[in-house]
Amino acid sequence: MLSPVFFIPFQQELKKPYFLNLASYLAVRSLGEVGNQEVLDLCAAPGGKTLVLASSLGPEGFIVANERSSARRSRLKRVLEEYLSPEKLSRIKITGHDAGRWGLYEQDRYDLILLDVPCSSERHLLERPSHLKKWSTNRTRQLAQQAYAMVLSALMALKPGGKLLYCTCALSPLENDGVMERVWRKKGKEVKILPIEIQDPQVVVEPTKFGVQILPDLSHGAGPLYLSLLTKQGPNRVDQEERFG
Ligand SMILES: C[S@@+](CC[C@H](N)C(=O)[O-])C[C@H]1O[C@@H](n2cnc3c(N)ncnc32)[C@H](O)[C@@H]1O
Repeated sequence: MLSPVFFIPFQQELKKPYFLNLASYLAVRSLGEVGNQEVLDLCAAPGGKTLVLASSLGPEGFIVANERSSARRSRLKRVLEEYLSPEKLSRIKITGHDAGRWGLYEQDRYDLILLDVPCSSERHLLERPSHLKKWSTNRTRQLAQQAYAMVLSALMALKPGGKLLYCTCALSPLENDGVMERVWRKKGKEVKILPIEIQDPQVVVEPTKFGVQILPDLSHGAGPLYLSLLTKQGPNRVDQEERFG
């Protein structure tokens, strides 16, 4: 956790390289090509993962990049304007809503949803002792509760058959599999956990009960990143009791 972060200079379809954690890049790429799909990036600032989504956005595709904090939304806007062509920008809409309430207003709409939630972010805590002092076990419980509400909201906004990628840069199991376990227990057969395809010789992708994680100690400083990929089932549901019961 104290070793240097594995940054990559991501440049595909960008005006200039944007440096981001290799694990963040691989996470977004695990969703496949965006193409002409409709995408919702619910917690988007500062925008690194939105840029990766935008890089494979097709001519009929569309991204809604949402960020509740107005200061961080301004930063998101600056980043997107600085790195993307006007043509790509014209198909990205920036909004400022609460991710936890999105599903009340829009349902069954998006093909892909990226939900990169606010989390304990222990790596940043170690770098900033003043933040570490303020951290408490109650904090991780609150973040997990908020993340759980956001996943339920995102599931409402997801099209049946679409993909929802949940990610955190937390180590706390409460914010990772803990959230997914609650979602799975509540939604049961309405959701299906999908396998995550990440193949990169520089990282070790460690399976967890409901997803995978990439940790810096085994991945040359990439991560930490936890991912879980869900789909919302249509009428022909697949029973998951055997895998997770
Ligand atoms: C982990 S960061 C996202 C990082 C971003 N996806 C990227 O790759 O650059 C989480 C973001 O969620 C925002 N956020 C926190 N609560 C939110 C809410 N209720 N609705 C929408 N965004 C929220 C935070 O301000 C923060 O910018």
